Amino acid sequence: MNIEGTKKLAGVIELLLESASRINEAKPQRYWYPLSMATYGVEEILEAIDSMCSFRTTMWEKTLLFERKFAAAQGCADAVMVNSGSSADLLLCFLMTDPNNPRLGPGDEVLAPVVTWPTQIWSVLMAGLQVRLVDIDPTTLNMDVADLESKIGPSTRAIFVTHLMGNPCAMDQIMALARKHNLVVLEDCCEALGAEFDGRKVGNFGIGGSFSFFFSHHLTTMEGGMICCPDTKTAEQLRILRAHGWLRNVDTTAYKLGADVDPRYAFVNWGFNLRPTELQAGFGLHQLNRMAGFEKRREIIANRVHAFVDQSKFLTRPHVHSKAQPYWFALPMVVREDAPFSRYDITSYLEKEGVETRPIVAGNLARHPAAQLFASFQRDKFPGANIIHERGFYIGLSPMQSNANIGRLLQCLETFQK
Ligand SMILES: Cc1ncc(COP(=O)(O)O)c(C=O)c1O
Repeated sequence: MNIEGTKKLAGVIELLLESASRINEAKPQRYWYPLSMATYGVEEILEAIDSMCSFRTTMWEKTLLFERKFAAAQGCADAVMVNSGSSADLLLCFLMTDPNNPRLGPGDEVLAPVVTWPTQIWSVLMAGLQVRLVDIDPTTLNMDVADLESKIGPSTRAIFVTHLMGNPCAMDQIMALARKHNLVVLEDCCEALGAEFDGRKVGNFGIGGSFSFFFSHHLTTMEGGMICCPDTKTAEQLRILRAHGWLRNVDTTAYKLGADVDPRYAFVNWGFNLRPTELQAGFGLHQLNRMAGFEKRREIIANRVHAFVDQSKFLTRPHVHSKAQPYWFALPMVVREDAPFSRYDITSYLEKEGVETRPIVAGNLARHPAAQLFASFQRDKFPGANIIHERGFYIGLSPMQSNANIGRLLQCLETFQK
């Protein structure tokens, strides 16, 4: 598109966005403090239109460029984009059992937290591995390191951590355990893009880190995900698994093909189709440019709400490790055991007032109906996760939220507390 055309189109998109927000404002809104708000604008929409008008909608150069820029921002050797954070978790697990280079085999056990987004656990099981669920420390929301250590057994081969709500796990202790017992480390960073432990970005500690770009996350591509990789070989394996086991978009020199196999349709592995679209990657390129601004705004809002929680006699918020730099995904809180109200009381009040709330992801996953399907959930008790299940909740942390609404939120919390 030429510059003149782009300017005209940008004007039209601005008008459309303005009229959409007027229509939305006129509608009765259930929440003035929702879990998430749109963080994209004219640039992302123009980029998507550009892909459609150039008939390059499926994975192409923008995806590669976004992968490169993401890897540079993340400080890792390479990154592979997929269509969701769940797909990123799935590919990470299938990387472990890749028939071309298996690191883990059937029956090998992966230790993973019981409080997480369920697709992380489903991914382990779908890849044919065993999962042993680790309790969480309710004061951090992350894996309880003592419970983790106690569950390392003869079949344990990997630890799949989750940096829940953007709060980094104690990676020094976890990596020391992994070294001692020769375990592979995987990281689910779907809620923790940008968070650091000991000056190192989460996702860079083990064999790979998964990220989600769902609408409400730190960076959005509408739907989307990424895996950051410590080396280009791992990224290549993932690219093959991402798309059909097909030898495409990768360096082909290492593969010996018979003369009867057309190199354009050569399959060297099994695989899925978890490819993103160019529209999603185009969104990501602009969202990356906005990240620093989002980060500042999220920090300001988090500090104001945390100051309220810290003076409250009835609420707590997650502890942060002295070496960790969290990048909060949302604002999780836990109602103290001795509070004169329940989690239900405070969330019902907030919901009635127009503040959207949620449990801390699934709470104790072992208490969900799906847990009945898998023996691994029945094996242990999870007292830490029960605390979060019964007394934890979170509210949103959108960088688009106004100062006036933050004031109104604090007022609301104050009124409830009184
Ligand atoms: C910890 C965690 N892992 C994985 C996912 C899955 O990501 P997606 O929704 O993009 O599939 C999420 C989603 O929010 C998540 O919070």
